[in-house]
Amino acid sequence: MLTVYDIVKQAVVLILGIVLAVGFGPIALPLPGLPHVKIVDLKEALRAPEPLPLEGVLAPNNALEAAVVLFNNTLQSSESVLVEPDGSVVLLDKYGALLTAAPNASAPGGYQLDPVPKAWLGPSRPLGFKRDAQGDLIVCNTALGLVKVVGSSVVLLGQRVSDSSPLDPGSPILYANTLDISPTTGVVYFSDSQMIPVTPNYGVPRARPWYDTLGSYLRGVYSVGPSSATACLPAAWFSHSQHTHPTLPH
Ligand SMILES: *[C@@H]1O[C@H](CO)[C@@H](O)[C@H](O)[C@H]1NC(C)=O
Ligand SMILES: *[C@@H]1O[C@H](CO)[C@@H](O)[C@H](O)[C@H]1NC(C)=O
Repeated sequence: MLTVYDIVKQAVVLILGIVLAVGFGPIALPLPGLPHVKIVDLKEALRAPEPLPLEGVLAPNNALEAAVVLFNNTLQSSESVLVEPDGSVVLLDKYGALLTAAPNASAPGGYQLDPVPKAWLGPSRPLGFKRDAQGDLIVCNTALGLVKVVGSSVVLLGQRVSDSSPLDPGSPILYANTLDISPTTGVVYFSDSQMIPVTPNYGVPRARPWYDTLGSYLRGVYSVGPSSATACLPAAWFSHSQHTHPTLPH
């Protein structure tokens, strides 16, 4: 509850802030403990193009009004979803559980979630994932890098860029974000969004701690370091035939 003391304190801080801002103009303050990088204007060529006009297939529609929320209060924050050929669904929740849901006409929304996880992805937070040609799940597990799920086991595939890479040699992969797998070559392409790792969030009372990608993303933005906002994509990829020793591009 706000007390008179809180209100007076906030008013004093606000007035002091206005006086300083009017008196001195903007002041560049480096954030404590974080890398301070000079902010520069992007070159014209690097700026995003003008968005396409909202017409044709992009015209506004009401399609999402027919959407049904599945597994409300049961499943939390599955960043990606995989629909299997048999119509069942694979999901990775924010705690790193690998879950499946089967079509079931009598279940709410038409899917029945199996509450027992098939595997645990280990610490960190899984984001994008796909099946490879062998049928194993390849997962971007943020600070754990790229991992593969084989049955209920997890194999670490790549946690840092190779020393011979021309781009960021030897740098750790701290925010593996999303991936795609070439259907013809099996090469996995994935993004590493920033250099601030994902850390656990213990701060929500009565909530189970989880690896907080939003918190880490915001620390990246505040620190003006390479973040997803600056579209940093150290191109790290490897051949599927080399599961344990990824080769990175030259
Ligand atoms: C999900 O559950 C919450 C809490 O019970 C409820 O407030 C909300 O309306 C539900 N949302 C949907 C889409 O069912
Ligand atoms: C299908 O859903 C209903 C309602 O939730 C449930 O009682 C039933 O056990 C489900 N069937 C299967 C095969 O899981």
